[in-house]
Amino acid sequence: MANLNVKIHNLEFRNPVTVASGTFGFGEEMSEFFDLNRLGGIFVKGLTVKNREGNDYPRMAETPSGMLNSVGLQNKGIDYFIEKIYPNIKHLDTHIIANVNGGTIEEYVEVTEKLNDLEKVTAIELNISCPNVKQGGMSFGISCPSAIAVTDAVRKAYKKTLIVKLSPNVTDIAEMAQAVEGAGADSVSLINTLLGMAINAETRKPVLSTVTGGLSGPAIKPVALRMVWKVYKAVKIPIFGIGGIMNATDAIEFILAGSTAIQVGTANFIDPLVSLKIIDGIEEYLHRHNIATVAELVGALEV
Ligand code: SIN
Repeated sequence: MANLNVKIHNLEFRNPVTVASGTFGFGEEMSEFFDLNRLGGIFVKGLTVKNREGNDYPRMAETPSGMLNSVGLQNKGIDYFIEKIYPNIKHLDTHIIANVNGGTIEEYVEVTEKLNDLEKVTAIELNISCPNVKQGGMSFGISCPSAIAVTDAVRKAYKKTLIVKLSPNVTDIAEMAQAVEGAGADSVSLINTLLGMAINAETRKPVLSTVTGGLSGPAIKPVALRMVWKVYKAVKIPIFGIGGIMNATDAIEFILAGSTAIQVGTANFIDPLVSLKIIDGIEEYLHRHNIATVAELVGALEV
């Protein structure tokens, strides 16, 4: 049996395959499809201090080899998560990672502090890259000083593993990764969605109510691979690679580029079982290439 274990900071993951925030609900919605404990981890839907209804519809659009979303962090707030959702998922034997959002640094800290005592939430993903909100979100993740300020504040407020989710909508993502590493991040995840838009030529109107949204899916994979590779060479902390991963070959490519683990996102909307197929496919790849452990492949791209 090939060894699929990977380590992120001080956490052991049974395999490198996790599901991306916003593509898998809170896990409980998916439990009827398969045994969630087979996953390396679950990044739950983004959380904010208060209930958010999200942006007006339409807020999803299919695009060539991808999709646009402008959901706008719809969720019922951190207290609802703690009281109503966490009790239903805390039995899971996989990492539950909370995606933390805010309009201000104080809001990020408020959500974070409430997560400290949830034993089964083993890490948080600080989301400074949501492109679909008027206040906060990506605006924190596109300049080094603001990324440092929010990471530093959340670092001081959180005792466990801190992952920072980076935006691709910057000139130099490696610089952003170095900035949050310096401010105390234990890991980075990248990439969040690329800003994009879709137009209906017949109506002359934008497809999304918000005009622009975040592009995900296979269309962004080459961009994401390049960014993972750049960040891998720039920082020492481990990377979660994200961006159009549809199958095990895609996952292996992200691992070769420098990802210690990966997040499956848009593919979950097509096939909720895709992550299991990716786990099996990675194992098959390791056997075929006579490689004992997946960790040996991290950053093993030959250039
Ligand atoms: C959203 O809820 O708008 C998507 C979240 C994100 O892009 O981080």
